[in-house]
Amino acid sequence: MINVLAIDSSARNEGSLSREMSKLFLKHWQVHRPRDTLIRRDVGTSPPPMLTEAWIAACFTPDEQQTEQQKEVLRYSDEAIDELKRAEVIVVSAPRYNYGMPAALKAWFDQVIRIRRTFSFDRTETTWPLSPLLSGKKLVLLTASGEFGFGVGGIREDREHLESHVRTCAHYIGVARTDLHCVAIEFQEFGDQRHRHSISDAHAKIERLARHLAVVQ
Ligand SMILES: Cc1cc2nc3c(=O)[nH]c(=O)nc-3n(C[C@H](O)[C@H](O)[C@H](O)COP(=O)(O)O)c2cc1C
Repeated sequence: MINVLAIDSSARNEGSLSREMSKLFLKHWQVHRPRDTLIRRDVGTSPPPMLTEAWIAACFTPDEQQTEQQKEVLRYSDEAIDELKRAEVIVVSAPRYNYGMPAALKAWFDQVIRIRRTFSFDRTETTWPLSPLLSGKKLVLLTASGEFGFGVGGIREDREHLESHVRTCAHYIGVARTDLHCVAIEFQEFGDQRHRHSISDAHAKIERLARHLAVVQ
């Protein structure tokens, strides 16, 4: 039995393609692994707090010296990191907003990528001083875009800042490059045959991916 952390980040509930993708993935997952525990964090409808000067000061203060106020400032981060640590599989659904991830999802990454909790910092290491403290997690990224051509060789490849940013952040929450799996719906703004094909293709990929990961887990 494992824990699955599901993070939805679309600002909309009604008609959200990315939320539908995560529902579909979890439905298939539960068919194969009905005993797993599902943890939900809806950052789209309940956005995490933004980082502040007080937050940064608190997280650089040793635990034993933190004031009650500083502990309170870090409460969201503590809870979100606890959920993350417990999860073996993380399912993130994300719309593409202004070519990147929604601010609410970025705020979640900001809350969980935290010194001494999820990464260490070694000043003597002059090239790559940050090292993740977590490992062995799998991440499924389900994205929806209005436009198209964000893949390798696509016409908007140079505007792709959603999957690539999540991929970089994923390293710091314990996800190896080969353990990140992406499925994308494109063409939403066109609403044409290309969009319908993109949806059915993504839904088929999601079913296959859920089955594959559920079996190997
Ligand atoms: C504020 C906003 C910004 C958007 N920016 C982009 C964009 O930069 N590129 C793109 O391809 N689609 C963009 N879109 C379209 C969304 O990616 C598309 O509607 C997607 O289906 C939203 O996900 P959802 O259906 O889960 O809500 C944007 C939509 C909104 C509401």
